[in-house]
Parts: sequence; structure tokens; C-alpha cells
Amino acid sequence: MVDGDGRELDQGRFVVAESEGGTILGCGRLRPYPDFCEVASLAVDPDQRTNGVGRAIITRLLELYSGDVYLICEDHLMDFFGRFGFRPVPVEDMPPGLEPKWRHYESLTGSMNVMLLERAQAA
Ligand SMILES: CC(C)(COP(=O)(O)OP(=O)(O)OC[C@H]1O[C@@H](n2cnc3c(N)ncnc32)[C@H](O)[C@@H]1OP(=O)(O)O)[C@@H](O)C(=O)NCCC(=O)NCCS
Repeated sequence: MVDGDGRELDQGRFVVAESEGGTILGCGRLRPYPDFCEVASLAVDPDQRTNGVGRAIITRLLELYSGDVYLICEDHLMDFFGRFGFRPVPVEDMPPGLEPKWRHYESLTGSMNVMLLERAQAA
């Protein structure tokens, strides 16, 4: 992402990955919306990438919520998120709540994708 999403940080569900020595390796959060959550604020320390930290964070986030999960990402991350079952959604089908954020990043990058991990809603 071009910059971070700092909105509604207090309501998010955060996951922070640390080394055994307590060094922060990466983080991510679920940003809540009325009918779904969004994976947001996902980042791994550049020196720690491709070591499985991102996978561990996403796996934990998906354990924290059992409903539909959306995200907004650049083209080069679609394969990464596809590994977790996220599928591209036509932008005209995105939930209205995501649109302002998508428009913001789309205007910055010129190409932003919406992806969905569709799951049974929580009981
Ligand atoms: C995207 C990001 C979180 C991935 O974190 P990571 O710790 O490097 O990811 P992992 O090592 O857990 O990767 C899991 C798998 O995806 C693969 N992968 C990693 N980055 C990938 C990419 N950009 N495209 C495709 N596959 C990728 C890994 O090789 C690994 O494959 P494996 O399971 O077969 O070994 C990290 O690159 C990052 O912080 N990027 C900058 C911030 C960012 O773009 N955040 C997302 C905003 S939407």
C-alpha cells in the first residue's frame, strides 16, 4: 500500500508477530464493518519477508472472525492473497462501505483490486 489505513484503529482486532526475543516482525488487523471485516494494516518488516510471517498473521486474523473478509490490494499482491482463498471481486460489486477507501487508493495508484474470502456468516 502507498500509505497506511489508520481509521478506526480502536475497533480493530490486531495481530502482532514477534520474534522469541520480542522484536516486532509484522502486524495486521481486521477492520470491522457492519456485515464483514477487512484485512488492513498488514505489513511485515522488509528484512523478515518470505519467512512465513505474513502467512502466520493472516492465518491468525482469519481465526478471529468467521464471516466474509474483504481486502483492497495492489496488483502484485493478488497472488499472495489468493493463497489464502481470497478471490477478486468486480469493483462494482464491492460493499458500499469499502468504496471510499478503494477510491482513495485507486486515485493514488491507478490500480486497486478488491478481494473477498467468502465464508459462512458467524452464528
Ligand atoms: C505482503 C506481505 C505482508 C507478505 O508477508 P511475508 O511475511 O513476506 O509473507 P509469507 O512469507 O508469509 O508468504 C506466504 C507465501 O506467499 C508467498 N508470497 C510472499 N509475497 C508474495 C507476493 N508478493 N506475491 C505472491 N506470493 C507471495 C511466499 O513465498 C509464501 O509462499 P509459500 O507458502 O509457498 O512459502 C509483505 O510482503 C509486506 O509487508 N509487504 C508490504 C506491505 C503490504 O503490501 N501489505 C499489504 C497491503 S494490502
